[in-house]
Amino acid sequence: MNPWRRPPHAVKLARMGADFDNANVERAYARWAPIYDLVFGAVFERGRRAAIVAAERACGSLGGRILEVGVGTGISLPDYARVNRLVGVDLSEPMLRKAQARVAEHGLSNVEALAVMDAEHLALPDKSFDVVVAQYVITTVPHPEATLDEFARVTKPGGEIVLINHIGAESGPRRLFEACFAPLARWLGWRPEFRFGRLASWAARHGGVRVIERHAMPPLGHFSLIRFERLTDGERRIAASPGRPKVADQAAEQPWM
Ligand SMILES: C[S@@+](CC[C@H](N)C(=O)[O-])C[C@H]1O[C@@H](n2cnc3c(N)ncnc32)[C@H](O)[C@@H]1O
Repeated sequence: MNPWRRPPHAVKLARMGADFDNANVERAYARWAPIYDLVFGAVFERGRRAAIVAAERACGSLGGRILEVGVGTGISLPDYARVNRLVGVDLSEPMLRKAQARVAEHGLSNVEALAVMDAEHLALPDKSFDVVVAQYVITTVPHPEATLDEFARVTKPGGEIVLINHIGAESGPRRLFEACFAPLARWLGWRPEFRFGRLASWAARHGGVRVIERHAMPPLGHFSLIRFERLTDGERRIAASPGRPKVADQAAEQPWM
């Protein structure tokens, strides 16, 4: 079957105004895999580099253990300093096959493993990574908040979660365009109207993480680098102590909201 033919399942979801599911995502990235690097290689390059710089800074000069969720074709793997140990996971087998070929081609002995895995159900131990990186992923997963819970679970206290992603406009013509484009974008595999408030609210609700950076990125500043710090138990207790602002107030007090 031609993978670019719109499958009836996606048509049904779009007509119902429903969100996508993992089967939808797998179909979308089976279509993208052969041409992904050509289409999205250069355009997202600066964002990927910025995420790697942030991850390596968090690990320190001796390096650390980094999980790349939604590693895709492994396009960023050769750019990490070899002192870092890398694990890459992705839902899409066709995308991961490309990543495996890239690891072999570049002789990336610091890549510990590549595995087919659902970001929302990581088969990885608690507190096992210094940094979790997700580049252009969080708006492609069916349940972003549950997925972020998993990122926080596998991150060591004091570690970081680094996201680079398209962030939907708060107002104006871009917001309208994103709303109109949303049904087609779901078929292509992402949500264009996903706003930053969702991430800030998740962090405030979770209680074990805090947003430490949001930084506009190209193309067009429509993308953001977002960093969360995984709190230590001590920091968590202080954050939860009486007198601290409640969840909604914490989200509202962030300067970037
Ligand atoms: C836009 S691509 C980004 C790929 C790569 N990170 C990059 O920088 O180009 C999104 C990737 O996330 C993966 N993905 C989407 N949903 C996922 C999930 N639930 N679990 C794991 N990977 C997922 C897709 O298969 C795809 O490879």
